[in-house]
Amino acid sequence: MDSRVPLRTVALATAAIAVFGAFYAFAAAKPGMGNPTARPSTGNPIEGRKIFTAKCVACHKADGTGGIKLTGNPSPSWKDPRHVFDPKFNDDYLRDCITNGKMKSGMVAWGKTGQLKPAEIENVIAYIHTLMIRKK
Ligand code: HEC
Repeated sequence: MDSRVPLRTVALATAAIAVFGAFYAFAAAKPGMGNPTARPSTGNPIEGRKIFTAKCVACHKADGTGGIKLTGNPSPSWKDPRHVFDPKFNDDYLRDCITNGKMKSGMVAWGKTGQLKPAEIENVIAYIHTLMIRKK
């Protein structure tokens, strides 16, 4: 009896793994993964940097490591993989937080109070990505 696995089975299995792997890599690279409805920012990080430097560094630090606690939660670290790769913290979350703030923690509702326009919020999100270990 021939106990070798038929070549065709091996070829098929290899092809299946390759296709699945490629698909997985593609899916994993998508921004907002885990939340298919998340809208990735299309802002301009160079413009966003100006806003961040003027209005956000006091609490988020120039390198985005945060850790400033006023009341409630401290500002998050965008270098912490447990935070940044949690699918909950996608661009929709960042946009919502910058627009509506987190009153209890002292994060200002920049959008709702009219201090930042929607386009400026997109720019600042794009800049935050340059500080994050997650680039999309
Ligand atoms: C007075 C301090 C303070 C300032 C100034 C501030 N933030 Fe925050 N921010 C916080 C705190 C505290 C949190 C955490 C809120 C929470 O999770 O309850 C936060 C959370 C965030 C989040 C959610 C991030 C995440 O990954 O969970 C974003 C985005 C954000 N801030 C952006 C900004 C931007 C943009 C600016 C400037 C326009 C800014 N913040 C200015 C204190 C501040």
